[in-house]
Parts: sequence; C-alpha cells; structure tokens
Amino acid sequence: MNPRQQLLRRIPVIISLGFLTILILCVLIFLTYSHLDGKQQQANAGEYSSGQQVQTGVFERIILTWKENPATSQAVTWRTNSPTKAAVAEIAPADSSPDFQKNAQTFQATSIELQAGEKNAYYHSVNFTNLIPNTLYAYRVGSGDLRSEWFQFRTANDQAEPFSFIYFGDAQIQIRSLWSRTIRSAILESPRARFMIHAGDLVNHGDSDVQWGEWFDAAGWLFAMVPSMPAAGNHEYRNQKTSVKRLSPHWRPQFMLPENGIAELEETVYFIDYQGVRVVVLNSNSKAEKQARWLEEIFEQNPNHWTVIAFHHPIHASVYGPDENKHGKIWKPIFEKYNVDLILQGHEHIYARGFGQENNIRQVSGPLYITSVSGPKMYEIKSRRGMDRAGENMQLFQVISVSRDILHYRAVTVTGELYDAFDIVKESDGKKLFVEKIPGDLPERRFNSQQKN
Ligand SMILES: [Fe+2]
Repeated sequence: MNPRQQLLRRIPVIISLGFLTILILCVLIFLTYSHLDGKQQQANAGEYSSGQQVQTGVFERIILTWKENPATSQAVTWRTNSPTKAAVAEIAPADSSPDFQKNAQTFQATSIELQAGEKNAYYHSVNFTNLIPNTLYAYRVGSGDLRSEWFQFRTANDQAEPFSFIYFGDAQIQIRSLWSRTIRSAILESPRARFMIHAGDLVNHGDSDVQWGEWFDAAGWLFAMVPSMPAAGNHEYRNQKTSVKRLSPHWRPQFMLPENGIAELEETVYFIDYQGVRVVVLNSNSKAEKQARWLEEIFEQNPNHWTVIAFHHPIHASVYGPDENKHGKIWKPIFEKYNVDLILQGHEHIYARGFGQENNIRQVSGPLYITSVSGPKMYEIKSRRGMDRAGENMQLFQVISVSRDILHYRAVTVTGELYDAFDIVKESDGKKLFVEKIPGDLPERRFNSQQKN
C-alpha cells in the first residue's frame, strides 16, 4: 500500500477523533458554565461561608415580644407551614462589618403545631437570654440549612433613660388594606420607638388564621425589629363558629409574653419594666377582682417613676353603656391610689382623652384615660363625659416619649396631622403638672363636624 492509500484509509479515523475531541470540548465548556452559573445563583440567594442559604417565604410571621427582662432578654416567634427539624435562632452583637456573623450564638427553638385554617402551621419560639443591656443585636431564624435574613433590635437599658413607644387602638378589620398605613406611618413618624402597644381587637375573629395573616403582613418586617406588647380584646375571645368565649388559639403560640400575671389568664395579664416605666397589660374580658389584687401586689413594689397600663374596654365609656366597663369600678381606685400616669384603651372606635371626672369638673391630675382607634372601623360618640378631647372617624396612632420628669404624648392621624398632645411633668414626690398642647385652634373632628355632647 502506497503512502497515499494509507492516508486515505486513515481519513475516517482522523475525522472520528476530531468529532470526539470537539464533543469532549463542548461537554467540558457546558459543565464549566453550568457550574459557574450555579455558583452565581447561590451567591444571589445569599449563601454564606457557613453553607446556609437565606430563604424567603419559609419563615413567616416573625415577631419580637418579651418573656422576661427587656434589658437582658428578647423573645422571637415565627412559623413555618411544614414541620421543620431543629428550628433555631442565631444571635450576635450587631456590628457595621458583616463579620459579626462569626460571633453568632445558636439557640434551639421550642416548636408546637397549631391547626391554622385548612392546614397546620408550626410555631417556633426562642427566648434569647443573658443579653447585654442597651446593646444592638442582630438575629436570624432558621432550620436545617435555611435561614431568614438578619434583623436587628436593641436591648433596653437597665436604668431609667429617655425613650419613645407607640400605642395603637383597635386594628380589627380591613387590616391589610387599611391598618397597614397606620402602622407604617407610625414607624416613619417614630422610627426609634422601642416597642408597640396594641390595646386589643388586633383582628375581628381571633380564630381566623387569614386575619392574623393580614395583621402580620400589614407590619411586614417591622414586627421582627420592634417588639410588640399586645392586650387581648373581646374579638380575641370570639369564636366565629361556636360563639364560645375563649382566648384565640393563635394567641399563645404566636406571642411569647411574660408569665408574671395570674393563673388562667396567662400571657394576657403581665408587666415589664422599661427604662423607668412600668408597663402593665390587663385583660378586661374577665377576672377583674383577681387582677385588682395582683395590681396591688405589683404596685407595692414598683421602683419606676412612671406607670402605664393598657387594656381593651375603656373605663369611661363614650360609646357603649356601663355594662362594658364593670371592671372600671374595681380598677379605678387602684389606678388612683398608685398614681398611675396613663391608661391606654381601645374598643370604642373613637378618640377620647380625659381624667374621667364624671361631674365634668375639669381636673388636671390623676390617671389620664385615653381611648383610640387605629383601624378603619368607626363609631359615633354618645357621651363625652369626663373627656377633654375627643374625635371620630379618623385612624390614629400615638407616640409617647418618656424622660426622667416629662412624659410627652402625641396622637397623630394616619395622614400625619397632630390631633392631640400634652405633657405630664412629674416631680420626684409624684406630684404632677398637666400641660395641654393641642396644636393651635384645631377643631374636634366629628362625623358631622359639629361639636356634640
Ligand atoms: Fe373593637
């Protein structure tokens, strides 16, 4: 065979080898690119060096509350829609460098299952303890290799120091649609508020998972950054189907609250001390006498200069009749005896503020009673006896700023107008001076815009 014939015989082999080489190259290129792309996607998903991924939509309804001392502890609760193994929360002192994550400490969560609507939900809670007072912390929640984003909160100082908090009346209906603007406006107005008080009727049907979902959605990540102190309203006790009066099955799984109150009303009667203020939450739905005895106990040993109490049904009714406020006769003398400063209430879907003098003699001392509304359900005032400032048909939030001697109060409409304001100046012996600060000659807002009694 001559060289030419040999070459001709090898041509198919050479062509096959060529194709094979090209094929191998293509496979290599494909594998390389898909690997790089996967890396990029992982980076976009927020993969950390620890191998954990930030996952959205898995960890829902994340909310900060307190179980114990707000200077040294912080509770967080969240839920997942499927059972998760080993739910955890991680915490570290926050730092401007992302390296703070290296100092994270892991806390195992307590998990429980709850029938929520059609399916079950899984609630997870962690109480971060041994925290340093007045320190900014970052935390995240998770399970397996999945984590939420990092949120931040500041622990309370362990001594009296000025701060602000926000108080809301009933949210109750059209929560996602219309209450959302109240809570968002409130935080924009007071972005450094240390906590939020919800004075009952957070939702319309306490057993409605959908409505609780709206309540959490309306606040979004705010609940994960600013702690809440909820009071139970009558609607947290209303069972839609059976009309049996019992606390919403969602309440205790989703709010990790102090158990320093009374038996049978666990986590609906409690108090915390925050930088010189004792904040008490009562349950105006039942057991008023028992709560009165407990109040006496906790007021006998109260080292704080200021005392604020929140509950749902107002002591001085402006809309409903006296049947709604039987607890008032029992509690009011105690509020007066212990020189309580503010009583924050809801239920009536109006605005009212006054010292509650039934004979209409203008008084400028004693506990100040406030009723407010944050959601869109609106009622008309029937009587404003004992109230010095009132209003109807507006969504409001209240910002209360406390320093050593002065408590400054503002009621602001959802559109940003200052509707009511005052200062309480309190001396060290407990003597108080009330200074009304209603802006200019702002008239009272009523349904028909005319002053009524
Ligand atoms: Fe209500």
